[in-house]
Amino acid sequence: MKINFEPYRIKVVEPLNINTMEERIGLIAEAHYNVFFLKSRDIIIDLLTDSGTGALSDRQLGAMMMGDESYAGARSWERFYEAVRKYTTKEHIIPVHQGRGGEKLVAEALLDRGDVVISNTLFDTTMGNFQYRGARIINLPDDSDYNFKGNINLDKLEEALREYGDRVKLIVMTITNNSGGGQPVSMENLRRTKELAQKYGVRLMIDACRASENAFFIKKREEGYKDRSILEIVNESLSLADLITFSAKKDGLNNIGGFVATDDEELALRLKTLGVLFEGFPTYGGMAGRDLEAIAVGLMESTDEKYLEHRTGQVKFLNDLLNENGIPVLKPAGGHAVYVIVDHILPHIPADEFPGQSFVVALYVAGGVRGVEIGKLMFPDASYNMVRLAIPRRTYTESHLRYVAESLSFLKERADCMKGMRITYEPEYLRHFLARLEPIDNWVERCFG
Ligand code: F0G
Repeated sequence: MKINFEPYRIKVVEPLNINTMEERIGLIAEAHYNVFFLKSRDIIIDLLTDSGTGALSDRQLGAMMMGDESYAGARSWERFYEAVRKYTTKEHIIPVHQGRGGEKLVAEALLDRGDVVISNTLFDTTMGNFQYRGARIINLPDDSDYNFKGNINLDKLEEALREYGDRVKLIVMTITNNSGGGQPVSMENLRRTKELAQKYGVRLMIDACRASENAFFIKKREEGYKDRSILEIVNESLSLADLITFSAKKDGLNNIGGFVATDDEELALRLKTLGVLFEGFPTYGGMAGRDLEAIAVGLMESTDEKYLEHRTGQVKFLNDLLNENGIPVLKPAGGHAVYVIVDHILPHIPADEFPGQSFVVALYVAGGVRGVEIGKLMFPDASYNMVRLAIPRRTYTESHLRYVAESLSFLKERADCMKGMRITYEPEYLRHFLARLEPIDNWVERCFG
C-alpha cells in the first residue's frame, strides 16, 4: 500500500477562527491593506512564512521539560552542542537567538566598508546585515539546471573573484536558495564553489537553515546520492563550509533559535566575544534552555527521510494543483514554498501599482489565506511580481492546501476586475513591513463585495 498521507497523527489542536468574506473586506481595510498588520486570529490559513511557524513533535515537547535554564554550562547546552556538531561536523558552535543574530556576528567579525560578498543569492536579512557594515553584495544565481535552480554561476563567480581580488571576504551559498524560489543547490555546485574559494583564498560560508530540505533534493536528483542517508548528505555539504549560519526556525524545527558554526578556532573566539555583547553567554546565546533542547531533537527529526518526503511533497502538491488550475507558478516546486507568478495573472496592473500586493490582498479577502508579496513593494528595483505561499512544517493537511488552491481559483475568476494599489504611507527602510496602502478605485469592495 502506498503511504500518501501525513506521516503523523494530531495530538494537540489549535482551533481556526473561520470568518466570512464580508468580514475580511473590513478587516483588510483596517489593516491598511497590508497583511503584516492583520491579527493572526483573523487569518484562516497562514502561509506568510515557514520560519518558526511549524508544529513541535511530542519528543521535542518532552525534551523541553528537561530544559536546564542555568546561565552558564547548562546540560541543555551540552545536548544542543552534540546535536549541532553531529549535523554540521563543526567543532566550534556559537548559539544565537535566530538566524540574523548570527549574520550580525559574522558581519561584525569579517566585514568592513568596501569589502565584497558574492553569493548564489543572499536572503534579505543577510544582505541587510552585510550592507550595514558597508559591504558590497554580488548575487550570481544560475537557474540553467532544472534540478538545481539554486546554484551559483561558477564562471561569473571566478570572474568576480579575479576582478575584486582581496576585497572579496566571503562567498555565501544559501541552501536552499530562498530568494530564488526555495530551489536546491547541487553538491557538485557546492564542491566547485569550495574549490574556487580555496583557489582564491576566500572563506566559504553556507547559510544552512534549509540544509535538510536541500539534502533531500540532492538524494533524489543528483547522481551518486540515492543510497546515502540525509544526515550523511547534510554532513558532506556542510563540511565544505568554513563557516555556517543557521536559523533554527526552519530545519531546526523550532519556533526560535540559531547558531554559527566553524572549525576555525580564532574566528570562533571572535564570534563568541561578539556573541556575549549582542546575543548572550556562549552556552545559551539568547535562547532558553528549553529551546536548546527542542532544537537538539528537531535538527535530527529534520533529517528523517519520511518527514522530508512528505514536506517537499506538500509543496509539490500545492504547486501541481495550482498549475492544473491554470495559476502560473515557479517550476519545479521548491523545498518550502510555492511562488505564484502574478505578472501573468494580473498583466493589466502596471508594476508601479503593485500587482503582487493586489494579489495578496485579494487572496486574503477571497479565502482568509495570508501570503507575502515578493516584487515591487518588497524590492523597489524588482523586475518581477510574485507572491510566496510558504508552508509551515507539520502544520497543515492536504485538505487545507486544497482550500488554498480553491481560494486562488476564486481570485483568478475576478482577476479582470482587480486593480492596483496606492501607497499612502511609506517608511524609510524595508517598506513592505510597515507601509499603508489603499486599493485604486475601491476595487476590493467592487470585485469581492
Ligand atoms: N537565511 C535564510 C535563507 C532565511 O530564509 C532566513 C529567514 C534567514 C536567513 C534569517 O533567519 O528569520 O531566523 O533571523 N527567512 C524567513 C522567511 C524570515 O520568511 O523566509 P531568522
